[in-house]
Amino acid sequence: MKAFEGYQVKNLVLKNKIVMPPMCMYSADETGQVNDFHLVHYTTRAVGGVGLVIVESTGVAPNGRISDQDLGIWSNEQLSGLQKLVQSVQKHGAKIAIQLNHAGRKYTGTAGTPVAPSPLKFDENSLQPHELSKDEIHAIVNSFREAAKRAEQAGFDAIEIHGAHGYLVHQFLSPLSNVREDEYGGSLENRSRFLKEILQAVTEVWPAEKPILLRVSASDYVEGGINLEAMVQIINQVKSDLSMVHVSSGGLTPANIKAYPGYQLNFAQRIKEECRIPTIAVGLITEINMIEEILANGRADLVALGRELLRNPYFVLRAANKEQIVVPTQYARAFH
Ligand SMILES: Cc1cc2nc3c(=O)[nH]c(=O)nc-3n(C[C@H](O)[C@H](O)[C@H](O)COP(=O)(O)O)c2cc1C
Repeated sequence: MKAFEGYQVKNLVLKNKIVMPPMCMYSADETGQVNDFHLVHYTTRAVGGVGLVIVESTGVAPNGRISDQDLGIWSNEQLSGLQKLVQSVQKHGAKIAIQLNHAGRKYTGTAGTPVAPSPLKFDENSLQPHELSKDEIHAIVNSFREAAKRAEQAGFDAIEIHGAHGYLVHQFLSPLSNVREDEYGGSLENRSRFLKEILQAVTEVWPAEKPILLRVSASDYVEGGINLEAMVQIINQVKSDLSMVHVSSGGLTPANIKAYPGYQLNFAQRIKEECRIPTIAVGLITEINMIEEILANGRADLVALGRELLRNPYFVLRAANKEQIVVPTQYARAFH
């Protein structure tokens, strides 16, 4: 089966094509440090045979988290926990990436005011965000650089920049949340500037042989927002710094999304074709037959299973032909 064949991007060699996508566990304390829960949670999916584990949205600044319970990567004190997590996941046969995020106007905690390209709230119940000055934008770009440096020090195999789900990068990209009149707003090129600067900063410190992934929302599902055509143009502007695009959708506004199995698949396929860049497909994919269809038809290069892996960390062990994977010796009697 294609799903259990290996895959290589730059020097990241995966034993199969199943990815655990980033999922906030809201289980850290205010220090943002890795604790026992994170170690058990991610290592369990490695034991379960997943090829690539992507660690949940991890804040590049205290008020860049989504909540005060998120992991953080803004301080050297957070390094030893991240290092331990990397070693534990790698030791059990998976590769590990980390999602670097700044939540912008969607920060809900108490470590400071939420920030945004423009002073526009997510919805009426959200806090009023502070409009970023250019100096503040440069400082956030620098915090992505520092975060990437720490991710390398911790030993991560890849990083994923969170450009989706209505967080700060997405807030800059979408004309619905970015009404700036300076060089960071207006044209699509200007709205992409923040992302471009982040990628530039990150590539200065992240090893050239390790991949950089970008997670995107291919549609805002709102008139006047980002649609697939705009996202293709954005990716084409920045793809020289990217190895892969992880294709999601929505999250910028409280828009209603009709979700069904594979609902984001067409976006992943079109981005793969039109940007000529490898993609990860995700979104209500739970069946091995569907994964095979996606891979065998070349619609995406890797497939991520989110909630399915929360329900069933041993998905890979159960779905694979036993010749195609290595079952942990401790569990061999359960998988003949
Ligand atoms: C509990 C939970 C937390 C999530 N946290 C994140 C996150 O930190 N970063 C992110 O990009 N997506 C996040 N997502 C979205 C997932 O990565 C994934 O795209 C989504 O669940 C759809 O895939 P699925 O239908 O296979 O679960 C989260 C989803 C869930 C269920």
